[in-house]
Amino acid sequence: MAAGLTQAEAAERLAWLAEAIARHDRLYHDQDEPEISDSDYDALVRENAALEAQFPKLVRADSPSRRLGAAPTSALAKVAHARPMLSLENAFSAEAVAEFVARIRRFLSLSPDEQVAVTAEPKIDGLSCSLRYEGGELVLAATRGDGSVGEDVTANARTIGDIPQRIAGAPDVLELRGEVYMSKVDFAALNERQQAAGGKIFANPRNAAAGSLRQKDPGVTAARPLRFLAHGWGELSAPLAATQLEAMQAIARLGLPVSDLFKRCCGFDEMLDHYAAIETCRADLPYDIDGVVYKVDRLDWQERLGQVARAPRWGLAHKFPAEKAETTLEAIDIQVGRTGKMTPVGRLKPVGVGGVIVANVTLHNRDEIARLGLRVGDRIRIQRAGDVIPQVIENLTAKEKRPAYLFPDHCPECGSEAVSTEGEVDVRCTGGLVCPAQRIERLKHFVSRGALDIDGLGEKTIVEFAELGWLQSPADIFRLHRHRAELLQREGWKEKSVDNLLASIEARREPDPARFLFALGIRHVGIVTAKDLMRAFGTVEALRNAATGDSAQAELSCVEGVGPVVAEALVDFFHEPHNREVLDDLLSKVRPQPFVSQARQTEWSGKTIVFTGSLETMSRDEAKAQAERLGARAAGSVSAKTDLVVAGPGAGSKLKKAAELKVPVIGEDEWARIVAEAG
Ligand code: IVH
Repeated sequence: MAAGLTQAEAAERLAWLAEAIARHDRLYHDQDEPEISDSDYDALVRENAALEAQFPKLVRADSPSRRLGAAPTSALAKVAHARPMLSLENAFSAEAVAEFVARIRRFLSLSPDEQVAVTAEPKIDGLSCSLRYEGGELVLAATRGDGSVGEDVTANARTIGDIPQRIAGAPDVLELRGEVYMSKVDFAALNERQQAAGGKIFANPRNAAAGSLRQKDPGVTAARPLRFLAHGWGELSAPLAATQLEAMQAIARLGLPVSDLFKRCCGFDEMLDHYAAIETCRADLPYDIDGVVYKVDRLDWQERLGQVARAPRWGLAHKFPAEKAETTLEAIDIQVGRTGKMTPVGRLKPVGVGGVIVANVTLHNRDEIARLGLRVGDRIRIQRAGDVIPQVIENLTAKEKRPAYLFPDHCPECGSEAVSTEGEVDVRCTGGLVCPAQRIERLKHFVSRGALDIDGLGEKTIVEFAELGWLQSPADIFRLHRHRAELLQREGWKEKSVDNLLASIEARREPDPARFLFALGIRHVGIVTAKDLMRAFGTVEALRNAATGDSAQAELSCVEGVGPVVAEALVDFFHEPHNREVLDDLLSKVRPQPFVSQARQTEWSGKTIVFTGSLETMSRDEAKAQAERLGARAAGSVSAKTDLVVAGPGAGSKLKKAAELKVPVIGEDEWARIVAEAG
């Protein structure tokens, strides 16, 4: 935790924390793609709370401590986007950019002589906003929010000079998307004014833009110098053009600002040249940018490429290199996770890196400490890329003659022996449920937001109840009501808080089955895998039967998204008698709901399709993605469960098998017709 910060440093840190926590909330809650562990997340929340306690005047309107309670995020109305607002996959190297181009070629099955034109433009560090025009009139402006639902900021957007209220010659429905930002000069002047008036100091132009746009009072927004730059579109009643370049030119002709560094590149070399050109003029640009965005130029190709999770396959953010700084490693602490994994955390002399104060770094594992030769007292170089937890990249005093750091061979929490399994880098505490840290971490995971999401059962409460002997295993949560009277006697608990807690527990008696499975904390089973498993098996009981059956490995591994590692983890978990007891106990208290698929409902929903032979107009991946968009599953081999085989030239044994099993077989043309009709 950052100790001894000045007021300005604390303000900066709080701004960063507010943004980072909100982002991790979105990743965890809305996108099911957490980037950090629950304990790292909790560390951020705790750091925020401690800083706020130290500097009560600096508590922000958008502070996570306000949001994490029951209070609504903001008073702005929520609006659903007509088309989702996607995010972009990040790349940090030329190799990753090459892979992006190669992946596109593979997906589209392009012949080697076919060029892939890609546009390149700066990635503005602002906040994205969707502007909806109907009959040429601005009718709605919305922030991105979670991508599906944003906040209505129409009145505020009307105060921004770059955003036209009316557009002559616009299609009937025209949604323009772009970045609301504040220029560097305007940001500095705003902070000076804020300081003079005793108002809030913003950490960076991005925060200033976000804080200014997301105001209840448009008068406040009007007084802030916000700008807008268009970079794309959402719903349209008529297409703007056939390529990204022409569409952006059309948007410029409609009167919206677009980047003058926008360029259509032919191939990888030109993309990298333009990246370098933009990086060279980065410091001279009037606004902050954090990379370059590439987009496939042909819009019909964009359409075919579609999206994975929440990012399009046709776009990529090529980020600029991480910011670096030097400081001293003051201590190495060991955190024990829910599976007993012992993670070393470096405590630093706080240092500013690219505008934020960093006081902790992850040291990953024992091998990483050894690789860097790290010891307490070393001078180190750290780096921070985007919002990712900072890392040590170099030990500047590795050559100094001091004894090496000894990684503990016993758990610092319970004293049990710590071991590492052959071939694994992690050291684990062998204490199992004896280890209070593991027990607490498991319970924390069970009630966490992506899992059962039980409000009011935070870490402090879990520790308190565990110490009282009320909480050992997750099922005990559903027995807490028995302790109501005792709890009311305890300090800090009132009738209302006790009832609220018990009510939020009761509300989880019939949990979503994927969340329930994820909550069990089986190694390698994240929420996405849990969903895949529930889609395949329907219930946890069915999964357990499969995992304890004779052909468990085979049956589990044929589930889409499940490989041998996950299959083995499931088999191990369900074989362990203690886990079975915990699960039985739990299932006597809660009844998970049947799995409901969120894929589109079409006549192909739930059907299994096999693609075989060489497909000529698309790659296997594209065909698979098309099947998934129809709610179907693409399998690798033909069995009695196959509903349809799509065969291209050269299809062999699978075709024979399909004939034997009387599975209908169609060609690629027929498949294209099905996709077109369903789409
Ligand atoms: S394209 C699906 N172009 O970056 C396409 N985004 O990391 C998504 N951004 O949410 C948007 N500059 O807020 C695009 N030139 C640019 C951009 C840009 C900044 C932001 C945008 C988006 C985020 C994704």
